[in-house]
Amino acid sequence: KVLEENQLIQIHEKTSELYHHILMNTQIGEKALQYLLDRGLTEEVIRTFQIGFAPRDRSLLSKVLEKENFSEELLRKSGLLFQMDNGDWLDRFYQRIMFPITNYQGKIIGFSGRILEDETFDSTDQPKYLNSPETELFNKRFILFNFNQARSEIRKKNEVILFEGFMDVISAWMSGVKNGVASMGTSLTVDQIRALEKVSEDCLISYDGDNAGIEATNRAIDLIASESTMSIQIVSIPDKMDPDDYRKKYGNDSLKELIKNNRDTVFQFKKEYLKRGKNIQVEADKLEYIDELLQEVSNISSIVEADLALTQLAEEFNLSKSTLQNELRTKKQHYK
Ligand code: UTP
Ligand code: MN
Ligand code: MN
Ligand code: MN
Ligand code: MN
Repeated sequence: KVLEENQLIQIHEKTSELYHHILMNTQIGEKALQYLLDRGLTEEVIRTFQIGFAPRDRSLLSKVLEKENFSEELLRKSGLLFQMDNGDWLDRFYQRIMFPITNYQGKIIGFSGRILEDETFDSTDQPKYLNSPETELFNKRFILFNFNQARSEIRKKNEVILFEGFMDVISAWMSGVKNGVASMGTSLTVDQIRALEKVSEDCLISYDGDNAGIEATNRAIDLIASESTMSIQIVSIPDKMDPDDYRKKYGNDSLKELIKNNRDTVFQFKKEYLKRGKNIQVEADKLEYIDELLQEVSNISSIVEADLALTQLAEEFNLSKSTLQNELRTKKQHYK
């Protein structure tokens, strides 16, 4: 069992070396390398993340791995190849920029590949990102991209930053923010939260600024708050951009600055979030909004922060603070 796991890791390490070599040193990797450089990555960061390229030829990895002494069963289990009815092997990943995914010990156990758009290649029906299939070794719900490399920085700062995409984690890294991780294209799981709270008391969420990202932020907040004692702050990215877009637009240091200086409390986020789809000029909407916000206030554990929130609400809606306090007290009994 352990032997098998080690061999699967070996297969992944070899595959990663091959893809990385193709990207950095060969002609078939040229376009992919240029694409990454155009996106603002440096060769140094490409090496740090061992990014690679799986070329269009779907027999390349198969041929290389066939020469090694891995059993067919093991090759199948790796999820990197599959066998057709006629017995020929096919590579799972092709025409993709490859991001190796490591476990918490830093061993490569899977990949995520981003399609490389190319006018000579029809990628219409291809997903933008393709992951390794779930295997005994590769359980997406336990995995966080970059967790192994980020762990020491997370511990040092006592703070972790959640991003949506791999490119956001890498962008932040280049901007000097090295405590970023991302879940694997699925929403955040309880298992990932458990892993994070072992090394950090504070959690920052910096998902994409588009609608999907805002919804995902809201879900992540509620899950983290109910499953852990980590404190939560939100870094919103303006104009529907994602963190990587932001760095590309405003320069390398901009993302670091934004993450440092532009943090919202959960309450500030909820104030914006709950306003969506409501017309506060309409009495019924306004009452519902205040009601929902009071519920949020009752979730705030810091007495000072809760008091500040009430002050804000009182001013915003021209109500007396004692009215809100009374309402809150009634509500708290109601929630129990
Ligand atoms: P996004 O659509 O925001 O992609 O998905 P991105 O990270 O900004 O990608 P770029 O900048 O165009 O390269 C966020 C994350 O969701 C997962 C990936 O993990 C991605 O990083 N995802 C997205 C998938 O798993 N499959 C997809 O088809 C798309
Ligand atoms: Mn997105
Ligand atoms: Mn809590
Ligand atoms: Mn994005
Ligand atoms: Mn992006």
